[in-house]
Amino acid sequence: MSDERLLERLRELKRQRNAVVLAHNYQRGEVQDAADFTGDSLGLSQEAAKTTADVILFCGVHFMAETAAIICPGKTVLIPDPNAGCPMANMVTPRELAAMKAKHPDAVVVTYVNSSAAIKAMSDICCTSANAVKVVATIPPGREVLFVPDQSLGDYVAKQLGRPLILWPGYCPTHHHILARDVQALKAEHPDALFICHPECTGDVVALADKVASTSGMVKWCKETPAKTIIVGTEIGLLHRLRKDSPGKTFLEVSPLADCPNMKLNTLEKMVWALEDMEYRVTVPPEVAGLARRAIEKMLEIT
Ligand code: 13P
Ligand code: SF4
Repeated sequence: MSDERLLERLRELKRQRNAVVLAHNYQRGEVQDAADFTGDSLGLSQEAAKTTADVILFCGVHFMAETAAIICPGKTVLIPDPNAGCPMANMVTPRELAAMKAKHPDAVVVTYVNSSAAIKAMSDICCTSANAVKVVATIPPGREVLFVPDQSLGDYVAKQLGRPLILWPGYCPTHHHILARDVQALKAEHPDALFICHPECTGDVVALADKVASTSGMVKWCKETPAKTIIVGTEIGLLHRLRKDSPGKTFLEVSPLADCPNMKLNTLEKMVWALEDMEYRVTVPPEVAGLARRAIEKMLEIT
């Protein structure tokens, strides 16, 4: 089927099912363009929380759809490809976290949304890349903080707040393909360019940045900056959104290796199949969802 026919069928199915399509900023360009709303993890959860649709077709990775299912217990949440996981979210298991909590019984557990519902349910509060500094800043300075699972984001937050955090050794394989030497080479080639990056990048890359932000934070900053050339240190799917929102500017990717294969599993065809067959449903057992919801809602209140 041509893209135009797929889009027509998608529109028809959306009407029939009373569905809304949410897409993360790293999705394939054609998937982003077919969505009702594109955004970062925080923006997508806020959008899920306020939608009046019966069905949410979530084009992102599994933890994002799961977060929508936790926030919206009465709605049907579908993901176009059930294999779209996040390797970082798999770097912490409930058993491992329980052992760490036993070692630090007084620590406040702050969990990045890139984690499973079971891990969120064991946490005191969640955060995203857009609000991690703000969330940790609400914890009294004397309290120990266990930051799970992204050590790079945790390290960034610790440096911003000038306070030590206990860091879980998880990381994003995609963002760790962005190397400081590649950024320096591009800066040398384009001396007028500014460099922005996501806090999932390693500390040496973050240290080179003119701006560190969530994916939607980067989109906003790029629209507002007078700079004409911007080097982008994040997953390369964001370049579609950046070029669409700031057409007069030049965006340079640091590395073609910064590609999240899981994010790219969702396609227009799979979106249409998902609404035709009402698959693949993302559900969370109510006892886990209840605890996880508390941690997510605490975060949403702060933001
Ligand atoms: P954002 O919340 O900044 O969109 O990031 C999500 C993510 O998975 C980054 O790799
Ligand atoms: Fe997970 Fe990294 Fe992909 Fe984001 S880019 S979904 S953190 S693997």
